[in-house]
Amino acid sequence: MELKTVELTKQYGKKKAVDCMNITLTEGIYGLLGANGAGKTTLMRLLCALQRPTGGRILLDGQGIGRLGEEYRDLLGYLPQGFGYYPDFRAIDFLLYIAALKGLEGKAAERKAWGLLEEVGLSREARHRIRTFSGGMKQRLGIAQAMLNDPRILILDEPTTGLDPKERVRFRNLISAFSKRRIVILSTHIVSDVESIAERILVMKSGRIVHCGRPGEITSEIRGQVWECAIPAEQADRYVAELNVSNLRNERDGRTVLRVIARDKPMPNAKLAEPNLEDLYLYYFREEDTGGGRRRGSGPLAAASGAAPGRRASRDNGAAAAEGLSGEASGCGRDGEWKGGDIR
Ligand SMILES: Nc1ncnc2c1ncn2[C@@H]1O[C@H](COP(=O)(O)OP(=O)(O)O)[C@@H](O)[C@H]1O
Ligand SMILES: [Mg+2]
Repeated sequence: MELKTVELTKQYGKKKAVDCMNITLTEGIYGLLGANGAGKTTLMRLLCALQRPTGGRILLDGQGIGRLGEEYRDLLGYLPQGFGYYPDFRAIDFLLYIAALKGLEGKAAERKAWGLLEEVGLSREARHRIRTFSGGMKQRLGIAQAMLNDPRILILDEPTTGLDPKERVRFRNLISAFSKRRIVILSTHIVSDVESIAERILVMKSGRIVHCGRPGEITSEIRGQVWECAIPAEQADRYVAELNVSNLRNERDGRTVLRVIARDKPMPNAKLAEPNLEDLYLYYFREEDTGGGRRRGSGPLAAASGAAPGRRASRDNGAAAAEGLSGEASGCGRDGEWKGGDIR
């Protein structure tokens, strides 16, 4: 199965929410990572055929999705951002209702609905009204409804919003088990989510994919520049103010371990560490910061990325991340457009 966009564009007035995008997706889990306003929701709605592009095409195995019509929709599961619920419905009735809308009825629908409630950990609350659910429970129900028709293409817009750490682990396992022979695309602005779930990460900025690759590959360019250094805890503030610190961790022995992004060894006891996506963001942010006069953003990427309170990444901006991603890195052209051929 191959889902491909060809110069896909969606313009609102002068604003290009999706800008001439060429991507090719095959079976696997894709994490679409970007700050608010990057165009993630617009791209997902286009892929779900809920919006018509102003330019370009979307092809499934070479055929235009417009022409495939119902046949294409039958393959889709979609969790919209800020999914609207029916507060007076009970969870199981809601699923059966959506199942009926998707053409699934009778015993098969019941089996599927109960099975999914079990998988998302809601079987005990199956007969509770949705209005009594927490944010995380609603989100889990939303994930279940998207999976009712066993979709070959599953599109989840910010599926981890509102999930607590335990729910995140459950979600990750669910998606991993589900993703075989399917295309799963999930958007998020939370770095750690895509890092642990997605097999491929697409970083989106201003309607374009500016960066893509497997979690390991995408961070490889800063290998050799991420350090861990232990310091006395009471000196942490001073170091955080002076160095480019992406994280800090307090040890039981009264020391603090800093994660520092630096070209050269920042202190004698520093040890090289394996870079992660957050480090990459901070790295780009720093480049941007010292690159002279370019805008310093502030946005959800930093705030939501699991930053320790008071660490520089979150206090200063952090946003950084996707905002700061330079188009020249990793096969992208100067204009931020992906130049490395199709993204697979
Ligand atoms: N219906 C709309 N009308 C006008 N502008 C829109 C509309 N939907 C989205 N946009 C704009 O398109 C850009 C991308 O939005 P969106 O796709 O929601 O991004 P994301 O999901 O990454 O936050 C934003 O600048 C947003 O304001
Ligand atoms: Mg969105």
